[in-house]
This record gives sequence, C-alpha cells and structure tokens, in this order.
Amino acid sequence: MSTEHTRNADTGDGGNRFVYVTAALAALNGLLFGFDTGVISGAFLYIQDAFDMSSLLWISTSSAMIEGLVVSGALVGAAFGAAVGGNLADRWGRRRLILVGALVFFLGSLTMAVAPTLEILIAGRILDGIAIGFASIVGPLYISEISPPKIRGSLVSLNQLAVTTGILASYFVNYAFADTGQWRWMLGAGMLPALVLLVGMLFMPESPRWLIDKGREADAKEVLSRTRSESRIRAELREIKETKEIEAEGLSELIEPWVRPALIVGIGLAAFQQVTGINTVIYYAPTIFESTGFGNSASILATVGVGVVNVVMTVVAVLLMDRVGRRPLLLVGLGGMILTLVGLGAAFFLPGLSGVVGWAALGSLMLYVAFFAIGLGPVFWLLISEIYPLKVRGSAMGVVTVVNWVANLLVAQTFLQLVGAIGEHGTFWLYAALSVAALVFTYFLVPETKGRSLEEIEADLRQSAVGGSSTAIAAEPTEDGVE
Ligand code: BGC
Repeated sequence: MSTEHTRNADTGDGGNRFVYVTAALAALNGLLFGFDTGVISGAFLYIQDAFDMSSLLWISTSSAMIEGLVVSGALVGAAFGAAVGGNLADRWGRRRLILVGALVFFLGSLTMAVAPTLEILIAGRILDGIAIGFASIVGPLYISEISPPKIRGSLVSLNQLAVTTGILASYFVNYAFADTGQWRWMLGAGMLPALVLLVGMLFMPESPRWLIDKGREADAKEVLSRTRSESRIRAELREIKETKEIEAEGLSELIEPWVRPALIVGIGLAAFQQVTGINTVIYYAPTIFESTGFGNSASILATVGVGVVNVVMTVVAVLLMDRVGRRPLLLVGLGGMILTLVGLGAAFFLPGLSGVVGWAALGSLMLYVAFFAIGLGPVFWLLISEIYPLKVRGSAMGVVTVVNWVANLLVAQTFLQLVGAIGEHGTFWLYAALSVAALVFTYFLVPETKGRSLEEIEADLRQSAVGGSSTAIAAEPTEDGVE
C-alpha cells in the first residue's frame, strides 16, 4: 500500500492512528469469532470422557446427539445472535452491542470452563454462540462506519484477519493442552480477549453514522474530529445528513425495491461463502489429511499449515483490498477455488492416495484455502458492511448473516454424509460446481465499492434501481470519497 494511500490527508498520521487502534480493538470481535468456533473440535475429545454422554436432563440420548449439541450448539446460537443482533445494533448502537457481546462472550466462556454438568456446558456453548452471532455483524459494521473511505476495505478486512488468527490460535491452544486434556482451560481461554474487548471498548466512541441517524449531530462531530479535518467533517456530516433525509422520506425500509438487489447480493454471497466448502477444511482438516495417507502428527502439522496459509493470505487481502478492489479479489479467489477443488477431487478419485497424489491433495487443499482467504473470506463480510442503507444497515446485515450461519450449519451437518454417499471426490467436485455458480453470481451481480463513501454507495444503489445495473457502483471513485 503506498504511503499516499494510507496517510490521512486531513489530520496527518495522528487521525489515522486513532482509526487503526479503534479498528484493531473492534477486530477482537473477529478474534473471538474465530477462536470460539475453532476451539471446540479439540476440546470435545476430552469433554466426551468427562461426562456421561448417554443422557441429558435425565432423558437418555445418543452420544452423537450430544456431540451435535456441544459442537453445533454455537452455530445455532450464532444464527440466533445474528437474527436479533442486527436489529439491536440499529436500536442500541454499534458500541453498546459490542460491549454487551463482549460480556456475553465472557460469561459463555466462563460457564463452559466451570460447567459442573453437561447441561450447563451446552448452555454456555449456546450463550457463546449468541455472542459469536453478535460479533460477526457488529465487528465489520462498526469498523466500516468509523473508517475513511480510502482505507475502509483494509480496515474492515482486519476483522477477517482476526477471525483467521483466532482459528489458528485455537489450533495452538488445543495442541498445547492436548497432552494434559485440560479442556476447561481450552474453552476458558476465550475469556481473556473478551475482557480486553469489554474494557477497551469503554474508551472508544460510538459510530458517527449511527449517532447522526439518532439525531446526535454534535456527538458525531466530536467523533469525526478525532480523525478528519474541519472541512472534511463538514462535508462528511452534510453527506450523511442528506442521505438520512432521503431515507426519512420513507425509502429506507428493508423491503423497498431499491434495497432488494443489495439483499440478493448479500444473501447470495452469504450462502456461497459456506456452500463452497471452506469449513469442511477448517473443521475436518485432520480427518481429510489422514485419509490422504498422512500419519497422526503429520496431519496435525498440516492442519496448522492450513491455519497459517489462511492468516498469511488474509494479510495479502488486507493489503490489496483498497488497491485492486473487491470484485477482482472475489473473482480471482473464486476462480482459484474452482481449480483447486477440481484438483482436490481428482487426487481423491485417483487410486492409491499416497506419495505424489497425497502431496498433490495437500497442495490443492492449501491453495484452496489461500484462494478463499484472498476473496470470499474477507470480501463477503466487507461488502455486507458497505452496501446497505444507514437506517437499516444493522438489520440487513442481520438477515444476511443468519443465512451465513444456517448455511454453515448445513454444510457441517452434511459433509460426512455426503462423503459417505458420493465419496470425497464427489463432494469436492460438488463444492467446485457451487463455486462456479458463485463466480457467475459475482460477475453479474456484485458491485464494486472501492473508494466510495458509504453514502455514495447508498446513492448509487438508489440510482441503479431507477435505471441501471447494480454494478453501477463501480463508477469512478471520487478523490476522497466524501465530496
Ligand atoms: C467464515 C467462516 C470461516 C472463516 C475461515 C469466515 O469468513 O465466515 O465460516 O470459518 O472465514 O477463515
């Protein structure tokens, strides 16, 4: 990223430093999201030895059902958290929801860490899931609304970088406690970032855009003055207010026809982000590696490799997001996912999955994760924080994010059955076919938002509903995106 690109022309580095610090702190939402979804696979191995897995609330059940509840309880909680969290973000404000979410994260992790019974453990897991649902919306949303347009893509992508770092950290924590089987420490470890987020956020401001939406202009001005010059604040305030006034005329409802294309884009990307298979690799990597002929410890090492590739390539995405734009990254990422999924399926299809073919499978899998990490991983969360009108931004993100969590659950529940029914090769080829659909969908429907202010994006959307395609947002960005 060029210096000119990163330096805030208005307030010098000081203003940007404040935005960077605030964004990095808010990205702890992503860290908790990644860590808490990743840690359970390791912890569950020991949980099943610690409790009687044959009954729940004195009712006898199968251990598979209990495993489903413990492992997927968080996904169900996350879908619920997303369903209510978006609306809460619009009503309570972004900052307050982050504070509440951090508290719920803390309580959920604490409950799991000290759970005397399986029932309490599951309750903690669901609570934790609700916090994950909140975090998945409000992290990107808050960062998007405090960021200057020129660096918004990189800053919001920091949240996805934190998700991947959280997943990697969960692999290490699982590994570190594996010998001693201290699953309570594994699950309790999430309390630490939750506490940092809770305390840190007390010192951070509310989103200026939400403040204006609630008529608190003076407060909004004060927040903007920390990162923008006087003239820039005036222009930005004017623009946000004008947008709000148009919305007040009744154009802003979620069901308004002009918002529909953006909802279709969000829902489509939400589903495609999951049904193209990423979490089968993130959650089942060791199982996949073992079936390619790697031994136990080699599989664990390869899994850590997956986590590292995911983090490193997300760093690349952070650096490129505001330079090359969202669409090119998404299209290249999807193209790469298609090729590597076809390769992965082929490696499983060939007889004798060892030697060269085993390595080819490993290479394809790593490259598949790399292509996800530069495209669909960060771009989905970024775009849904950009393309909705201010008044319903949280609620719209909520709708879209529920789809993401439900699709996540669906893939997690069907992966092993699919492998049983159509084999590993068939399953990966199915994900390849769905990636082709995602590529076509992106090419025709997904807009470019690089360099545009959130208000310009909203105006473009309204305009294109009148007489153009939704990719009309790709129009030349203004110099600073606010005037
Ligand atoms: C997805 C998660 C996934 C993660 C992997 C996120 O963007 O929403 O489901 O586990 O990326 O890096």
